[in-house]
Amino acid sequence: MTTDHQDVFEPPAEIVDRARVKDWRAVEARAAADPQAYWADQASELEWSKPWDKVLDDSAAPFYKWFTGARTNIVTNAVDRHLSSATRNKLALIWVGEDTSKVRTFSYFSLNREVEQMANILLSMGVGKGDVVTIYLPRIPEIFFAMLACAKIGAVHSVIFAGYSADALSTRIDDSESKLVITADGSWVNGKVFPLKKIVDDAVRYSPSVENVVVVRNTGTEVTMDTVRDHWYHELARLPIAKGHCPTVQLDAEDPLFILYTSGSTGKPKAILHTHGGYQVGTYTTLKDSFDMKPEDRWWCTADPGWITGHSYLVYGPLLNGATAFMFEGNPTYPYPDIWWQLVEHYGITSFYTAPTAIRTLMRFGDAWVTKHDLSTLRLLGSVGEPINPEAWRWFHRVVGGGRCPIIDTWWQTETGMFQITTVPSMPQKPGSAGRPVFGQQAAILDEAGHEVPVGTEGFLVLKNPWPAMMRTLFKDPDRYRQAYWEKYPGVYLTGDSARIDEDGYIWVIGRTDDVIKVSGHRLGTAEVESALVSHPAVVEAAAIGLPHEVKGNAIHCSVILANGVQPSRELEEDLRNHVAETLSPIAKPDSFDFPEKLPKTRSGKIMRRILRARALGQDEGDLSTLENS
Ligand code: PRX
Repeated sequence: MTTDHQDVFEPPAEIVDRARVKDWRAVEARAAADPQAYWADQASELEWSKPWDKVLDDSAAPFYKWFTGARTNIVTNAVDRHLSSATRNKLALIWVGEDTSKVRTFSYFSLNREVEQMANILLSMGVGKGDVVTIYLPRIPEIFFAMLACAKIGAVHSVIFAGYSADALSTRIDDSESKLVITADGSWVNGKVFPLKKIVDDAVRYSPSVENVVVVRNTGTEVTMDTVRDHWYHELARLPIAKGHCPTVQLDAEDPLFILYTSGSTGKPKAILHTHGGYQVGTYTTLKDSFDMKPEDRWWCTADPGWITGHSYLVYGPLLNGATAFMFEGNPTYPYPDIWWQLVEHYGITSFYTAPTAIRTLMRFGDAWVTKHDLSTLRLLGSVGEPINPEAWRWFHRVVGGGRCPIIDTWWQTETGMFQITTVPSMPQKPGSAGRPVFGQQAAILDEAGHEVPVGTEGFLVLKNPWPAMMRTLFKDPDRYRQAYWEKYPGVYLTGDSARIDEDGYIWVIGRTDDVIKVSGHRLGTAEVESALVSHPAVVEAAAIGLPHEVKGNAIHCSVILANGVQPSRELEEDLRNHVAETLSPIAKPDSFDFPEKLPKTRSGKIMRRILRARALGQDEGDLSTLENS
């Protein structure tokens, strides 16, 4: 293989020998020739209480349906089917607290017991099929139980990352009309307590739909409990209603499994809807193939279950594969920047999946933090969330992977539910390229007019084929679904990213083309940051943009018009930063500010971010002819 970009890493022979997919070209060609047959083969490895009539129903495209007519439940495949084999005694989940002396482990048998208990409690609170349950929990085992319990009884989970503020939580609860919130007293963040229950109290004050709040005791922090609305989980668990078998409800393959809010181009977050049937096939297959999942594996995905990566590849994907998932409550640099490597060594992790930001952060502390640990159990490494720069790729490969472990880069989105561009371990890897479309998928790079651009040219990344784990719609907003993803180029899915394709068919993702910024791998909308800023009394108007950042990938820069008489100052900047943290989330804190007299706008009043970016980077402002008052 040749490339004008840089190195190609051929997978070591022992990796190819062991790989499920050895001859990837043959599988790719077979799946390309008949994608539906490929997906039907994959689906038949799972259990369905009634088989499908049709693999793909595209009669109402872009509202695609998969495995129509089939009856199933993702919990049947993620938990129940493992109970009748030796897998019942295998560890499903190893959990380690931020205080690493706290360890909890669950076999598939005991995971089932916990899920049944949580499901019984939900049923006793009147939660039924189709009801939305909001889950606002940290990285503790109960988040697995809560998600699986909802799925088991046909309820729809809406997990909100436990770092969002009360405002953000309340907006999402209201939008989904949740009657029940599951939370914890607090979470541990670098040795300090983050007051989750307090945030829920503030949020539900403005959310009339919420009837019950279930609280898991985690940090032991004192909290206020409303005598009618709030219930300790451990107290509910002692009641007779919590005991006994809870059957897994068989559902239509297209019944909703979850909604997950993510940022888009407007201030209103989008609720992405995924369903049981297709999502289980997509996450099962992609994890199995790309990470060569085997029974002896210990799989660590460092993502939080509050994001799609945690949904698909920390909770559902590993369990669907009967693997052992590892979850760590803490952060990668606390108490020392070798905590991850200490855990990899101690627990014998074989496959480790993380984000470029974390790699770049840890890389800065130097090799010694890594090399003092024996990481020889590692076989495969993975990357997700943003483009991985070749320097970070090489460090991850050489220092963490000892030069032996292929790095599986995985490009995908909350909307796609499963990997879309990646490699399998037997494929050569190119540092900085996410790889090739998954089996059964085809991608293209288009220009503004919808023509495919020549090899090596940047353009809009689109996906040509529907895939089983694709979102089905935006919850309660089908028009926005059609318009945001399927209208620019009819018949193909618009990803919102720009990319190039090389002569070997490898895709090099460059970044977002819309008003979404990836900051440390977290997805934020500029409009969300702007509306948080304008709710501060000193701010009249604000524009947020992403600027390149060595560790975070992008950092948020804000141009702010101040109210009459307010002067810019360091203190004001700090105040604005904290205000965004409190009204949206600490992950959205702006890095830098400027305070112009006016924002550059088009005559129709649209902020020209291109000009703001050029100004912030000290570059030429380019064509100013469309600027108002130009
Ligand atoms: O810009 C792409 C980037 O993350 C976006 C999707 O964000 P989110 O829905 O939060 O999902 C993140 C985890 C799946 C994409 O539009 N992105 C994700 N993975 C990669 C990536 N960019 C480059 N390389 C990746 N591997």
